[in-house]
Amino acid sequence: MSSILLIGPGAIGATLATWLAQDDRHDVTVAARTPFDSLEVQTPDGVIRAKPRVLTKISQASPVDWVLVATKAYDSDAAALWFPTACGPRTRVAVIQNGVEHVARFEKHIDAARIVPVMIDMPADRLSPGRTIQRGPAHMVVPAGKNGADFLQLFAHTNFDAKATDDFISAVWRKLCLNSAGAISAVLLKPAGIVHHAGVAEVMRTIIRECIAVGRAEGAKLEDEIADDLIERAKRGPRDAANSMLADRRAGRPMEFDARNGVIVRLGRKHGIAAPMNELMVSLLEAAQQD
Ligand SMILES: NC(=O)c1ccc[n+]([C@@H]2O[C@H](COP(=O)([O-])OP(=O)(O)OC[C@H]3O[C@@H](n4cnc5c(N)ncnc54)[C@H](OP(=O)(O)O)[C@@H]3O)[C@@H](O)[C@H]2O)c1
Repeated sequence: MSSILLIGPGAIGATLATWLAQDDRHDVTVAARTPFDSLEVQTPDGVIRAKPRVLTKISQASPVDWVLVATKAYDSDAAALWFPTACGPRTRVAVIQNGVEHVARFEKHIDAARIVPVMIDMPADRLSPGRTIQRGPAHMVVPAGKNGADFLQLFAHTNFDAKATDDFISAVWRKLCLNSAGAISAVLLKPAGIVHHAGVAEVMRTIIRECIAVGRAEGAKLEDEIADDLIERAKRGPRDAANSMLADRRAGRPMEFDARNGVIVRLGRKHGIAAPMNELMVSLLEAAQQD
């Protein structure tokens, strides 16, 4: 039996908590900012439900085996406020977020050796508190090693494609190539179909090429072809798909542009690599967020 506290029951967090609660071996609790009574997920294979304990006050938490953080990156420090009550000496913390700074965001709050960074690829939307829709299959990647293997065990009874890799850094930078280019949708307030505009496709290509250059300097193995491949893939995808930064901007919520574009600029500077197109995206989205 593993005790699990999932912090951040949004699109990803509520979907994961509901899946985990289907397994009798787990004792799942949810740490929420906005309360709800129960969880319900429309998965590609049908509806699943769960009724975990829902905590809204940090003082209600007690030490668990696993803390899973699934807040947006900009809410990481607020999520970590749960750690002093939820983490005992053996608790491990899985960070299930986009970007490449999973450990960097949390190592000031807990020993880095207990942090498991998780790359997740699972299209999900929040319909209302506790209600989500999982629009496609779930893929997760963790670093090889005991922590990663133990984390994957939590999902052993799901149909997730979850695996460990010796090259986690390449996995997260590859995902960042995709996520960074999504900034243009949030800037233009237009869904994925804008990739069919030749000039916009070129901007996206430049954003991705900057990401590849900085990722390589950080040690990721990224092929030149990624930029063209992602553009072609986006052209074949649904025109009305809205990435989460676009959804956040439409809803008036903060956006994750620092984790998706700002990081390319910041780490680029460290290596003497300019990333002007990513810098432009950050400036425009920062300005848009201020209105
Ligand atoms: N959605 C996707 O399809 C997808 C796919 C792959 C990766 N990701 C990544 O996964 C991460 C999570 O994204 P998401 O789309 O699931 O975000 P989301 O729907 O915005 O959910 C975030 C949740 O965190 C909660 N929260 C924030 N601060 C909290 C705190 N201090 N304590 C407890 N709960 C807190 C929010 O509360 P409220 O309910 O009050 O807002 C919300 O329920 C992001 O890094 C995202 O980029 C998302």
